Amino acid sequence: MKASHHWWQTDVVYQIYPRSFQDSNGDGIGDLPGIRQRLDYLQWLGIDAIWLSPIFPSPMADFGYDVANYVDVDPMFGTLAELDQLVSEAHQRGMRVLLDLVPNHSSDEHPWFVAARSSRDNPYRDWYIWRDPAPDGGPPNNWLSHFGGPAWSLDPTTGQYYLHLFDPKQADLNWRNPAVRQAIYDAMRFWFARGIDGFRIDVIWMLIKHPDLPDNPPDPQWKPGQPEQHRLLRRHDQHQPEVHAIIREMRMVADEYQDRVLIGEIYLPIDDLVAYYGENLDGVHLPFNFNLVTLGEWNAHAIRALVEHYERALPPGGWPNWVLGNHDQPRVASRLGQSMARLAQMLLLTLRGTPTLYYGDELGMEDVPIPSELVVDPQGIRTPGHGRDPERTPMQWDATPGAGFTTGTPWLPLAVDYPSRNVTRQQDDPQSMLALTHHLLELRRASAALNRGSYATVATSEPDLFAYLRQAGGEQVLVILNMGATPVTLDLSSVGPTGTIAASTGMQRTGHVTLDAVMLDAVEGLVIAIDED
Ligand code: GLC
Repeated sequence: MKASHHWWQTDVVYQIYPRSFQDSNGDGIGDLPGIRQRLDYLQWLGIDAIWLSPIFPSPMADFGYDVANYVDVDPMFGTLAELDQLVSEAHQRGMRVLLDLVPNHSSDEHPWFVAARSSRDNPYRDWYIWRDPAPDGGPPNNWLSHFGGPAWSLDPTTGQYYLHLFDPKQADLNWRNPAVRQAIYDAMRFWFARGIDGFRIDVIWMLIKHPDLPDNPPDPQWKPGQPEQHRLLRRHDQHQPEVHAIIREMRMVADEYQDRVLIGEIYLPIDDLVAYYGENLDGVHLPFNFNLVTLGEWNAHAIRALVEHYERALPPGGWPNWVLGNHDQPRVASRLGQSMARLAQMLLLTLRGTPTLYYGDELGMEDVPIPSELVVDPQGIRTPGHGRDPERTPMQWDATPGAGFTTGTPWLPLAVDYPSRNVTRQQDDPQSMLALTHHLLELRRASAALNRGSYATVATSEPDLFAYLRQAGGEQVLVILNMGATPVTLDLSSVGPTGTIAASTGMQRTGHVTLDAVMLDAVEGLVIAIDED
């Protein structure tokens, strides 16, 4: 078959949080050789591409999102040679490997920042964003760190504040400085030349700030009791028009190599998000679409409206993508409950566009409550109760002590349910979330309608129902999701007379159905291959 689509359009991406996937040396922290040991599993599951959260040398103030060297591997995770080996073994299996580029900020221990803070006239000074104190000695403006507290810290040696939109140990780079741009582009080239297939780019919509750094206005929606850092609208410290020129340059770097992909981390509403495809599709290939994660209410009406809005807003040729979870968000099974999470998985894997799966969601892993003395996430430390440790706990492989993740003491506590919720158990249970995910991935791979076909909503009169048709060539696949608490019987004969059940989130239903009376249980989803006339 001639490739009418790029791999990153038809493939399924799986996010690995390296600290928590597989430990190979008993230190309680996952590593690269560990990931390599689990490639068999990922291949069995039906994953085509893995994205690794940062594995670069780092003081780990934000667990790798504070990079101290953009072109090496932290010894905690392994060596450059071990990364090469992982990449080559993944490639042998036809799997791609994406790394996580963190260009908005570096660690304060990066040699660039160490030099920059050494004196006001150091050549690296302008690689970061420095301002004099306000007249009262306080920070230069009212911007707030996403983790809590001011976005500025005073450097006592040089008497100026530096900007950090996240932790004080994550100093924002000055993207108005061409030398910064070149340095990061060179890091991209370093990895591309080593065979890395692409990058997920951290907080790409924050890269450049308003040139005058004006105060942010108050957010009228904010209420006391909500995290303090949400008090202001982020009007001037993100989503500035100049960001698109930078992204265009990054895209040109990627385009120096064959068929690489850039995925941008962007939390914006759809109409703003789609600008990140670039005016001529010269932006990122996939601006991450987190709208299923941030959706206020999870119901058929809201989801249908979201999908239709997104489909309408995409620029011509812009390829959609969907996400249900990541290392910054409460787990989908905790947000929605286990039954609804099964429907959500069916939705993710049957909508039009590239899906990204978060490790462990294929098991229905849930948020793990972390006792306050064990909280390690910088956001959880600065904003108690809003930490991200719960969704970052070790992968649950089996029922042995350490869950098959480690022989040592895991860096975050294991979920108490790991003896029953684990890969080994679920591989043997045809009703499990893992079996469902595996089956949906198999179906998706085999079906052009699902992995590249068109999308059309199917109208129904049932308010709790979301139905859509995926189509490619003569192949038609109908997806019906009953998000309501009562069973329904539907007439979908407008789509065709008969079909064959290809997947069900509920009891393993199979066989032929006549579409004038399709029955669904409460909270059940079905995938039906429409019979050709
Ligand atoms: C992104 C990452 C998050 C990190 C932040 C700062 O949002 O996903 O984990 O804390 O950027 O790098």
